[in-house]
Amino acid sequence: MRSSKVPAAAAALQVALLLAAAAAGHGHLKVGYYEKTCPGVEEVVKHHVAKAVRADRGSGAALVRLIFHDCFVRGCDASVLLDPTPANPHTEKTAPINIGLAGFDVIDDIKAALEARCPGTVSCADIVVYAARDASSLLSNGHVHFAAPAGRLDGAVSLAADAQRDLPDSTFSIAELIRNFRRKNFTVEELVILSGAHAVGVGHCSSLRARLTAPPQQIVPAYRSLLAAKCAAGPDPVVPNNVRDEDPAAVAAAFPSFLKKLRKAKDFLDNSYYHNNLARIVTFNSDWQLLTEKEALGHVKEYAENGTLWDEDFSDALVKLSKLPMPPHSRGEIRKHCRFVNHH
Ligand code: HEM
Repeated sequence: MRSSKVPAAAAALQVALLLAAAAAGHGHLKVGYYEKTCPGVEEVVKHHVAKAVRADRGSGAALVRLIFHDCFVRGCDASVLLDPTPANPHTEKTAPINIGLAGFDVIDDIKAALEARCPGTVSCADIVVYAARDASSLLSNGHVHFAAPAGRLDGAVSLAADAQRDLPDSTFSIAELIRNFRRKNFTVEELVILSGAHAVGVGHCSSLRARLTAPPQQIVPAYRSLLAAKCAAGPDPVVPNNVRDEDPAAVAAAFPSFLKKLRKAKDFLDNSYYHNNLARIVTFNSDWQLLTEKEALGHVKEYAENGTLWDEDFSDALVKLSKLPMPPHSRGEIRKHCRFVNHH
């Protein structure tokens, strides 16, 4: 919620948290960090993200998810990008919670272009943040936008177990979701704001299994039938997160009343998630859970009513996400290749 009036106690808390963040190593983050050392870096990132999104808007959704899955685990340190090796066969990306995680090839292309331009200068962690910023801006036609501070380092540690422990699961109850976000210093409101990213992208049927048998108070039966039909079509197919992006044939068969709401432009990032949620046509149990707690429900309604507010608050929440620091005393470096730590 944007407000010019910050109560004194909240302001004091904010200062304390900023100091804590600085002590933990992200105090040096700065907008325009590479101005002198790698001029044009943000244009290069934007060029590559725009190319990827033009070819497939789904790659933009993947990049929006990537910042979350990087920053919630050991801070924004590109640990999510590390490939398994014989020395470390269980990196974060191998964790079941990271099912469907994508966008790695776009990050590799950006890194290669930046290494050619200014070798050893731009961290993969900063690339993940810039790329998510540009993807969310492109998918929202510029409504989501923010200046991204940079100056992060790439971490050397990446463990599937850390991802399993720190990332929320779609089966979580509202209490578990709130606890999970609070552990990273995110509020109930920010949980609701960030969940709005599920306006775009896809999910595997295995991630929404509980929804296929959920009662009508939790999911519109026609939509449940649509999901059940699609999920019966293969071992673990994917479905759009936003019913608006569903294919017309499936909707015509199971959910004809929704046909008029389908959109040509897929993966448009806006506040439609909140409308869908109140109408009980969202994919994940964790989405629906937001309606089951008073404060969260209030925010779902607030953002359903005010799309501009959501654009702004989502932008702010992504900036906050991008500032999650590495654990204290972690070793940082600028990787040469985003999938592997450097040899020392
Ligand atoms: C609140 C807790 C959250 C839960 C439980 C959750 C869970 C999930 C799940 C299960 C998927 C589908 C994975 C698959 O089956 O392939 C997914 C997809 C996605 N999530 Fe979340 N998520 C949460 C929060 C977030 C946040 C905070 C963001 C970003 C700000 C985000 C962005 C996305 C996007 C964009 C996709 C689609 C990715 C793609 O199409 O490649 N999610 N999420």
